[in-house]
Amino acid sequence: MSIKEFDGDNEAIHEELESLSTNNSGNKPFSDVLAEHMTRRDVMRGSLAAAVAAFFTPQDLIAGKGGNGKGKNGEGEDEGGNLINFTPVSIADYAAQSDGGKMPVISPDYEYQVLIPWGTPIKPGVPEYDGTGPRPTAAQQENQIGIGHDGMWLFAENGTSNEDGVLCINHEFGTNAHVLGKPSPLSLEDVRLSQAAHGCSVVRVGRDSDGKWDVVFDNRNRRITVNTPVEFDGPVAGTEFLHNLAGNAPLGTVNNCGNGYTPWGTYLTCEENFNGYFGWNDPEFVRNPKQERYGFGPNGFGYGWHEFDERFDISNPDYANEYNRFGWIVEIDPQNPDAPPVKHTAMGCFKHEAIAIRIPESGKVHCYMGDDQRFDYCYKFVSKKPWLVSISQGINPLSEGTLYVAKFNADGTGDWLELSMENPILATMFNSQAELLINTRIAADMLGATPMDRPEWTTIAADGDSVFWTLTNNSQRQSPNVANPEAPNSDGHIIRTRDRGEGQGEKFDWKFFILASETRGTEEVFTDPDAAYADPDGRLFIGTDGGQPDGLQDQLTVFDTTEPVPMPKRLFVGVNSDEITGWAQTPDQTTAMVNMQHPGNGDPSRTNFPAATDGSTVPRDCTIVITRNNGGIVGS
Ligand code: FEO
Ligand code: CA
Ligand code: CA
Ligand code: CA
Repeated sequence: MSIKEFDGDNEAIHEELESLSTNNSGNKPFSDVLAEHMTRRDVMRGSLAAAVAAFFTPQDLIAGKGGNGKGKNGEGEDEGGNLINFTPVSIADYAAQSDGGKMPVISPDYEYQVLIPWGTPIKPGVPEYDGTGPRPTAAQQENQIGIGHDGMWLFAENGTSNEDGVLCINHEFGTNAHVLGKPSPLSLEDVRLSQAAHGCSVVRVGRDSDGKWDVVFDNRNRRITVNTPVEFDGPVAGTEFLHNLAGNAPLGTVNNCGNGYTPWGTYLTCEENFNGYFGWNDPEFVRNPKQERYGFGPNGFGYGWHEFDERFDISNPDYANEYNRFGWIVEIDPQNPDAPPVKHTAMGCFKHEAIAIRIPESGKVHCYMGDDQRFDYCYKFVSKKPWLVSISQGINPLSEGTLYVAKFNADGTGDWLELSMENPILATMFNSQAELLINTRIAADMLGATPMDRPEWTTIAADGDSVFWTLTNNSQRQSPNVANPEAPNSDGHIIRTRDRGEGQGEKFDWKFFILASETRGTEEVFTDPDAAYADPDGRLFIGTDGGQPDGLQDQLTVFDTTEPVPMPKRLFVGVNSDEITGWAQTPDQTTAMVNMQHPGNGDPSRTNFPAATDGSTVPRDCTIVITRNNGGIVGS
C-alpha cells in the first residue's frame, strides 16, 4: 500500500512499511532455551546477577572510568547507585499537565527550551517557516533546518565550550502530508521540497546573553540533502555496482536516522530506510534478490519521488544502480563546509540505524551498528589499522577493515562472524568483496546470524568496553530465540555485550540489560526503546518510539547502570504521536539536547507544538534543550 491509497494516519502506515520483515532467508531462530529454564523476571534478575559474576566485574559497574576515555569524575569517585536524584514525571503528572498530550512535560527539577524547529533559517536573509501560511519553497528549505530531527551531535567550539558549538543533526523523514501539505507530490518542485526537508543540517548554535540557545550564522552552516555531491571509499568505491549508464555523479544521503561521532572530530550519519524513496514506473519491472531482501516496492513508502525524479525509478535502466548508492555509513566534517560527505562501503550496506565507536588498547576503531528491520542483525566493523596510524598515512580509518555479524549463543557467549571472501561459503556466493558488501544482508543470512527484534541504537557504556543495544519491538515474532525471548515482542528490550580481548577468536559475552515488559504495571513503565546514550558516569538515556502505556507519550528515561537492578526514571514526556530520539550534550554535561520527531504526525488537531495550542498551526519537529534547575549534570 502507498500513502496515496491511504487517507488515515500517515505515520502509522509509514511505520508499518518501514518495519516490514524482508528476511525470508530461512535463517531459523534458535530454540526457546530461555523459556525452558527461566521466567521472564528470572531472566532479567538472573542476567544482572550473572553479569556481575561473569564478565561485568563490580569495578566495571562503578562510574567514573569513562567511556572512550572521556570520563570526567576520575577513577572510582562514585560508589554506584547514586547517579539519579531528580523527581521523575509521574503518570499522573503527565495526565494533569500535558493538555491531552498537546504539550510535553518535564521533571519539576528540569527546564526545557525549543531549538531549531523545522523551517528555522541557517543562513542570513532566508525566511522562517513557522507552521503557518504556505509551506516553504524548495529553495528556501535548502537553507532552513529540515524535518524529522533524529540523531545528532554537538561539536563544542574549541572542543571545550559549554555554550557554543557546531550541531550536526539528521532529518530522517517527513511525510508528504506534513512537508507538502498534500498526500503526493504533483510536480518536480514538490519532490525537491520533500528532498530538501530530508538529509542533515550542520548548524552552529550558541547560548546568547539571556541564556537561550539559538542559531549562529556561520560559514560552516550547511544543508546536506539527497542532491549534495558525495564521495565513496572502501571496496565498493569505483566499481560497476555504483555506476549508472546515465553517468551521473554520486549525490546525496537520505533517511538519516541515528548517528555516531569519531575520535578525529567528524560526524557519522546512518542511512536507514533508503528503500522507501525508490519506486518503479515500469509495471513489468521485476526485483533482483537484493531489491527483494532490502524491501523495495513499486511505490516505496509513498513519497512519489520516482514519478518526477528519474534517479529514484529503479526500473529506469539508465539509473539501474542508483539504489546501491544508499544504505551506508556517511561521514561529515562539521568544520569544513567544502568537504563532501564520504560513504564508507567497508562498513556494509543495510538499514543503518546508528553507530557507536569504541577504541580498545590496540587503537583500532571498533564500530557497533544495528540493522533496523524485524529479524535483521547486529554488526561490528573493525578498522584494519589503529586510527592514529591510518590518519598519519592519510588514510581514512573507516575505509578499510573487517565487517562482522553477530550470532548469539545460549550459553551467554556470542560469535562475530566475518563477512569476507575468506569465508568459503561467501567466496562461493560472491565474486568480490564489493559484491558481498552491497549484499551485506544476504551474506549475513548465509552465515546464520541471529535474527533480532529490530536493532536500533548502540552506545558504549561508561566502562568504555561494553555496548548497549536497543531492540525496539517485533510484533511479528512467533518463536523466541536466545537473544529475543518474547514472542511477540511488543515492548522491546536492551542487551549488553562485551567483546572478549582482541585475538580471542572474535567472541563476545552478552546479557539482557532489561526487558521493557518488566516495567509494565509500575510507575516507571516504558516500552519501545530506540535512541540510546550512555554518559561517562554510568547513566543510560533511552528515547522511546512506540505507543507508551498508561496514557503516556514517547519519553526520555534514564537508568543508573551502576544499580544492581536498574529501573528507568522518567525525565521528559513528549506530545501526541511524536518520537523522542537523538542525543547531544555539552562537555560539562549540564546542557543536553534531545529531539522531538513528527509531533502529532504533522496534524494540527493533535498538537501545535512548539507553538501554543491553537488548533491550526502545523506542529514542527524540533530539538529540546534540557537543563537542570540547579545547574547540575543532566540526568542527575
Ligand atoms: Fe529510524 Fe529505526 O529508527
Ligand atoms: Ca530509531
Ligand atoms: Ca524506531
Ligand atoms: Ca518513528
